[in-house]
Amino acid sequence: MAASSFTRIALVGCGDISARHVEALEKHASRAQFTVYCDTDATRAAAIAALAAGHTARITTDFDAVLADADVDAVDLCLPHHLHAPFAIAAARAGKHILCEKPLAVSVEDCDAMIAAADAAGVTLCHGEPMRCAGIVARAAQIVAEGQIGRIAGLQATFAYWQRAELNTGWRGRKSESGGGHLMDGGIHIIDALRHVGGDVASVQAMTAHYRPELGEDSEDLAVLNLRFTAGHCGQLFACHATRGRAASPMMTVFGEEGCLSLEAYGPGNGLVVFLPGQPPRVENPEHGWVDGYERLMGSFLDTVQTGVPLLSTPQDGRENVRLVLAAYRSAETGAETVLSAGS
Ligand SMILES: NC(=O)c1ccc[n+]([C@@H]2O[C@H](COP(=O)([O-])OP(=O)(O)OC[C@H]3O[C@@H](n4cnc5c(N)ncnc54)[C@H](O)[C@@H]3O)[C@@H](O)[C@H]2O)c1
Repeated sequence: MAASSFTRIALVGCGDISARHVEALEKHASRAQFTVYCDTDATRAAAIAALAAGHTARITTDFDAVLADADVDAVDLCLPHHLHAPFAIAAARAGKHILCEKPLAVSVEDCDAMIAAADAAGVTLCHGEPMRCAGIVARAAQIVAEGQIGRIAGLQATFAYWQRAELNTGWRGRKSESGGGHLMDGGIHIIDALRHVGGDVASVQAMTAHYRPELGEDSEDLAVLNLRFTAGHCGQLFACHATRGRAASPMMTVFGEEGCLSLEAYGPGNGLVVFLPGQPPRVENPEHGWVDGYERLMGSFLDTVQTGVPLLSTPQDGRENVRLVLAAYRSAETGAETVLSAGS
């Protein structure tokens, strides 16, 4: 597809997260704009369109009309998880570039089909994972790569908060549409961060629990994962939708032979603390916290569409995150450590 310096995007799915996408794209207003807002609920589409007041945009309830619209270059899919694959594949076949919210899809096969459809059509498929673009995680990965804390011995991560019950009243509360509980929905952000800093994961052993029936009939709201990384170190993730104690532990701690890193100790926005022996803790505040990752994610998507530079958040990473979540669910069922065999 021919590159252009201005990208006209349809925002598809105008629910809870879409306002953040509008806010993020506004930061790139000189080179992109939402020109269509699509939702089966026209009222929602109109409400989100109103956030970008001043722009000319159309509202539609019909995704096929978006696909047929020659004035739409790209789609930004903010949809229930089970719709990511069919909508992305249809968009690719219609020649539209795609930014798709996490998780990339609810099965590895669907991820593969999306990647194949985008490759065949020659369009960009960007995995909408703001964590991949967060300055704090990128800086941690850089410090590790520079050897500042020596060889990694292990990683420990927490993604614990109180999920608003109203978010789970629809598709999110049904595993057939969401693909799982907190691990597939929220914990997957931290899986991306763990893989970004710690590298590929070779196997996983998981336990899950279900405390809050109001969040869904058949989905976990607590998942505890033990991870064995390909490089030899191990890691842990505590992902919980049933606590108000988020600030009680850092988002991630990286334990190295020569020092440690702590990301967001005492809650979001608290930066990165570097602990080296014999030195006072050094606090760094990278330019972008992970909540600002959307702006950088959107910028990276536009860079790729407009100039062909590589994506920061690739669909291959999205696929790997989904593969790991599904392996963790299998482990929780069987009680066994699940090996992520190559490619599967
Ligand atoms: N809510 C969050 O805090 C959050 C955070 C990060 C990522 N996300 C991701 O964003 C995506 C959307 O989540 P959400 O919380 O905004 O969900 P949501 O349920 O609030 O919004 C989804 C929207 O899609 C619309 N929709 C459903 N079927 C449609 C169709 N066939 N055509 C057009 N529109 C349709 C719904 O009417 C709804 O407005 C998910 O992938 C989720 O994991 C959400």
